[in-house]
Amino acid sequence: MITKTWAWTSRSRLPDPDVVEKLRAAGCVFAAEEAELIVAAATSSAHLDELLRRRVAGEPLETILGWAEFCGLRVVVTPGVFVPRARTELLVRRAIAAQPGVALDLCCGSGAVAAVLQRELPTVDAHSADIDPIAVECARRNLDPNRVYCADLFDGIPADLRGRVDLITMSPPYVPTARIVTMPVEAREHEPLRALDGGVDGLEIARQALADAAGWITPKGRFLFETSRGQSEAAVAAAVAAGWSATVVTDDELEATTIECRLPW
Ligand SMILES: C[S@@+](CC[C@H](N)C(=O)[O-])C[C@H]1O[C@@H](n2cnc3c(N)ncnc32)[C@H](O)[C@@H]1O
Repeated sequence: MITKTWAWTSRSRLPDPDVVEKLRAAGCVFAAEEAELIVAAATSSAHLDELLRRRVAGEPLETILGWAEFCGLRVVVTPGVFVPRARTELLVRRAIAAQPGVALDLCCGSGAVAAVLQRELPTVDAHSADIDPIAVECARRNLDPNRVYCADLFDGIPADLRGRVDLITMSPPYVPTARIVTMPVEAREHEPLRALDGGVDGLEIARQALADAAGWITPKGRFLFETSRGQSEAAVAAAVAAGWSATVVTDDELEATTIECRLPW
């Protein structure tokens, strides 16, 4: 482990003007704030150069630092894993309000959703799953590793959870395929396509999950999933077509949309 020298530590308290300038030139909007974080994370001047090189090349700040702030929690985020977005706080708030005893977070990425749920509801039995082994490895650093599974939606979830889950949450990939090219380079080139691409209308993964989720929840259970506002009408139609009763919840400040599904009986 490299020990910071005093000179280095004292430098790290102020944003270095050179670092700020390089970040600004690379198009970072919050260059001063980012400079402070990057300088604080660097353990030597060579390390600082390396972190800066990665950021200037467009890698998300969070994977460079190794963490993201999500709902006030510092979540480990490793390269190649989707960076949790602020808007997903709406899904988490609705999940907390549901007060589940047993919860399952599909498409969990870093495991941020279940990590916050677990912090807010310490007795919840929270399980998480993702199809991507890199995301699963990352989520196991944020959660009880024995409750994180590598699974293609429900295919790979322990069978003993069937019919016992009070709440399923899911922030799936929901960008329509044709829109991927319009995404910022940070996402397009540094987050896996599988984390972003939701198929032709962005609802492909949601439809697949809607088809199977009823078999996993309790009769009064709920299935909550994130989508975009523009997709909400089609998402509700997809849920109803799969036999659910569904409502849309939005938050303008977070620019967030969650679809809440229940069994209609
Ligand atoms: C938009 S990211 C969301 C990650 C996390 N829920 C969050 O909010 O930070 C979508 C995640 O879905 C995963 N994924 C995509 N298709 C999947 C599938 N068929 N089964 C399980 N996970 C899937 C991706 O690997 C990615 O981690």
